[in-house]
Amino acid sequence: MALPQTVREYEELGLSRLWNFPTLYYMRGSDDQQTFADSEKAFLRYRLRPRILRGINNIDMSCSLLGREINFPIGLAPTACCRFAHSEKEIGTCIASVKQGTVMIHSCASTTKVSELMEAAPNALVWQQLYLFKNKLLTQQLIKEAEASGVKALVVTVDAAGGCNRRISPYTEGSREHACNTEFRLPNFEISTPDCLGYQKMGDQNLWAYCAFQCQESSNSLEDLRWVQTITSLPIVVKGIIKGSDAKKVIEEGIASAIIVSAHGGRQLDGIPAPIDALGEILEAVRETGSNTEVYMDGGIRSGSDVFKALAVGAKAVFVGRPALWGLAANGTEGVSHVLELFREELSDVMAQCGCATLSDITPSSVINEAKYLAKLEP
Ligand SMILES: Cc1cc2nc3c(=O)[nH]c(=O)nc-3n(C[C@H](O)[C@H](O)[C@H](O)COP(=O)(O)O)c2cc1C
Repeated sequence: MALPQTVREYEELGLSRLWNFPTLYYMRGSDDQQTFADSEKAFLRYRLRPRILRGINNIDMSCSLLGREINFPIGLAPTACCRFAHSEKEIGTCIASVKQGTVMIHSCASTTKVSELMEAAPNALVWQQLYLFKNKLLTQQLIKEAEASGVKALVVTVDAAGGCNRRISPYTEGSREHACNTEFRLPNFEISTPDCLGYQKMGDQNLWAYCAFQCQESSNSLEDLRWVQTITSLPIVVKGIIKGSDAKKVIEEGIASAIIVSAHGGRQLDGIPAPIDALGEILEAVRETGSNTEVYMDGGIRSGSDVFKALAVGAKAVFVGRPALWGLAANGTEGVSHVLELFREELSDVMAQCGCATLSDITPSSVINEAKYLAKLEP
């Protein structure tokens, strides 16, 4: 069978291989899905500004994130529950990241432990994602394991402060047997701390509710983030920043080595801006701090052209969530690897056509917001 030639074709193929519940779980945004839809659509509001006749013979997309070299500025965002997509689960995604020479962020709500990932792919560049759990022992355990496994950074997701309604349930819209089959486990939540024993006691039926309970904590404050910093020597990446003042807060406290501008794929608070639109405000705030904190973004990236636009606005790198899940569902490791390759090839083509030989040639003048462009044309 011919391979898909675009990320969108992987979406179609990947989703066609999934049953009802994972499709909804992977694809649904929260509430009215405004942020989910706008995160993709927003890229259409940015237009490319190519420079012609630049004599480009070679395109170099390599870059360094937190001091580590990757082949191109597109990493894999943390996504929970990869086992729904394919039996190779997070291990498949991780091996694909090594094949393509990029970074993978491993979700704490994964169906594989980070130690298993690193055994399967010892050369992988992996960052471990976690939430500010109510259960501090769980956080400590996760960090200890990440450090022992050779993980290079912690990604703390800060945009899950309360419940969200994705209007799905494994019980009403999916097959309960599938959702709770014996291969499906969230091993990070199986540790034996006084609270986490609850996982085993409650059993699979309550697994979803239990994980949500562990993650969503509106009483979290900067103090909790500071506490994480005291128990690790790894650099901290703060994920889920959508406002300049929040970026300033975590930078001025000396906590964030990097931030990810993210709307959690539209899965948490609906109604917040598309990350590509928020990026400018956040970069401005970071500049005002005078720090060299790296700024990445995720959300709605479906093509090399989208990547180029995000880099032009000012992101150092981007991360993709659903596209990797589509690749995994379509064809395991090979599918994820090919999705990354498509992004890389497309970015290379757009760079060539826009007159950019290296990533530093991509500047704010490489792109213009449609509204500004049209305003210029007004009589
Ligand atoms: C199925 C699914 C599971 C996710 N799980 C997590 C997670 O465990 N932790 C986290 O910080 N973000 C999680 N995210 C959000 C992604 O890391 C990322 O922010 C988002 O998917 C980017 O948008 P995109 O899917 O349009 O690329 C998840 C996203 C999806 C689609």
